[in-house]
Amino acid sequence: MKPQRLPLPPVPAAALLLLPVALLAALLLVVYPNEFALQASLAGAAACGDHQGGGGGGGGVQAAPEFRLLIGVLTLPARYERRHLLRMVYALQQPAVASRARVDVRFVFCRVGSPEDRVLVSLEAMAYGDVVELDCPENMDNGKTHAYFSSVPRLFGGGEAAYDFVMKADDDTFFRLPELAESLSRAPRRDLYYGCMVPCDYVRGSNEYMSGMGYLLSWDLVEWIVAAAAEIEGRTGGPEDRTLYSWLRRGGRGRNRVDVKPAMYNFPGRHPCSHEFIPDTIAVHQLKDNRRWARTLQYFNFTAALKPFYPVI
Ligand SMILES: *[C@@H]1O[C@H](CO)[C@@H](O)[C@H](O)[C@H]1NC(C)=O
Repeated sequence: MKPQRLPLPPVPAAALLLLPVALLAALLLVVYPNEFALQASLAGAAACGDHQGGGGGGGGVQAAPEFRLLIGVLTLPARYERRHLLRMVYALQQPAVASRARVDVRFVFCRVGSPEDRVLVSLEAMAYGDVVELDCPENMDNGKTHAYFSSVPRLFGGGEAAYDFVMKADDDTFFRLPELAESLSRAPRRDLYYGCMVPCDYVRGSNEYMSGMGYLLSWDLVEWIVAAAAEIEGRTGGPEDRTLYSWLRRGGRGRNRVDVKPAMYNFPGRHPCSHEFIPDTIAVHQLKDNRRWARTLQYFNFTAALKPFYPVI
């Protein structure tokens, strides 16, 4: 939680000048992620996902959204290019869902270790207000998922339900927000465990859970994860998405299971959860390189409305 560890080796003067600003930005962000996002959007920066306006002041009549969804994209500090892509992909979809849902996209990592990343990530925090640093060592399969869900009420809630649904998503997953919103508008608001149940190759088995490509919990379950800390303690490692389901099962929670397969799937190929592109898609996973992103966005006519912006040779 306290990011002010000063680097030991001597640093250039420019870095010394930037450091306090960066540290302040990071600290503000850790402590007040909502407020920071709000300030960023008030300052005219396009804070991804804040098109609804966080404050509700302003005079313009804004109908209350049908539901509010937090999408936490778990990623690593150094993945700047991927975040840039995801910001565009989600910001461009906001107008299509703004009338019914408030969708906030946040990029989530554990403690930013490298001094370079700390400065550069702070720039993003200042420009977009959409990154969240959790108080955990950066890891995979060692409790990041638990750190994320259990931090959400404290970071965003302020004692009340800030969102109806809280999603954990991969940074190689593309969600189509209008299709997701349509599907969620029909989903239960409580005790909800929603996503793509794996394994994909049989209908109902014993060792199943929602795939880490992206799944969501209703707010009451997120609060339950905080309240059940003592029971969950020591059970936060391992394959995290399966582990999370084991807490729900043991606690008798998540009984409203919504498995939207095959609307969520892996990029077409040989993987068990792969599927050909289909028009009713909610999400495509395993977009591990730009070629896959381009093919996927092209299939869904994502940029079809764009007029040519270069002379055809
Ligand atoms: C993309 O546009 C083409 C041409 O208009 C159309 O035939 C196709 O159904 C669209 N694809 C999707 C996924 O909407």
